[in-house]
Amino acid sequence: MSPTLLTRPELIDLHPSPGDLCAAVEQGLARQPRQLPPWLLYDEEGSRLFEAICQQPEYHLTRLEKDLLQRHGRHIGHCCTGRGAAKPVTVVEFGAGGAHKVTPLLRALQPAAYVALDISATHVHTACIGLQMLHPQVPMVAICCDYEQLPALPDHPLLAHQRLGFFPGSSLGNCSRAGAVVLLRHMATLLGPGSLLLIGMDQPQGVAAMEAAYDDAAGVSARFARNLLVRLNHDLGANFQPRHFAYQAHWDARAQRIEMALVSQREQVVSIPPLAAAVHWATGETLITEHSHKWGPEEVQALAQEAGWHGVGRWCDSQDRFSLHLMEHGSLSQR
Ligand code: AVI
Repeated sequence: MSPTLLTRPELIDLHPSPGDLCAAVEQGLARQPRQLPPWLLYDEEGSRLFEAICQQPEYHLTRLEKDLLQRHGRHIGHCCTGRGAAKPVTVVEFGAGGAHKVTPLLRALQPAAYVALDISATHVHTACIGLQMLHPQVPMVAICCDYEQLPALPDHPLLAHQRLGFFPGSSLGNCSRAGAVVLLRHMATLLGPGSLLLIGMDQPQGVAAMEAAYDDAAGVSARFARNLLVRLNHDLGANFQPRHFAYQAHWDARAQRIEMALVSQREQVVSIPPLAAAVHWATGETLITEHSHKWGPEEVQALAQEAGWHGVGRWCDSQDRFSLHLMEHGSLSQR
């Protein structure tokens, strides 16, 4: 039996600085239409609200993905070891959040280490502390960072082994297509040559199901979006009145994505002290809080290929609504 470690996982906090936050807001508000980067949604309260979204009956993604991982975790583990993920391997989870999905992989792979990356420091650290209880023999570290920081993460002993990336939750879909290719390249840089990456992706469905998933009856998705304004009030001293913005989630069939936005309900002026000028909002003017693209399996393969990855396995639910894609980096002829 392996020895029990049960140490408290370390937190490496590389959260973007207040200056970075301010620059992101200034750039986003200069866009037409206005649009802020999704990482701003995940302060502590935003992360808590996102966990609550995952529990809503309309939000099918989490249930389908957890079920796939439960059912196929062992097979996925065999595929990884069969493809040369020689033990010991370090599992690196991108956007780990509450780390609710990785247990079947940790059980199947018995990795040398687990590294959880997320933009919300307290959230990911607390998650790792909880997960450590379930897997006392796996050394763990939580790293708070933005995806743009991936290629330049500091060296850490737990990253010394061969790495398997895990990117669940269909979070790749929160990038533009071009942004997704860049992110997959950053992941390849971090994971190293010949690495494997398991990605969970939601696929396009009927308009009603898509829009309900992003605008649940309990109003949690709306609170999550409005919390962005609360965060800007808190972190930048802005004076947004969240109740003067309505939430909407709209399926854009041409772009294959849900567009989530806050819509100004009146003409209003908002001051954000670090910015040079106050921000004027016309009635009906939108602030896009997030896009969630829904790419089918062929599209995922195509954009992954542009980043140097190729598919080596796919697992989906009985109605092919959600897929786990196992990708390998490097040319097919290398193996
Ligand atoms: C994190 N990400 C994959 C979620 C999604 O489904 O696009 C974010 C989300 N925002 C509102 N609901 C869910």
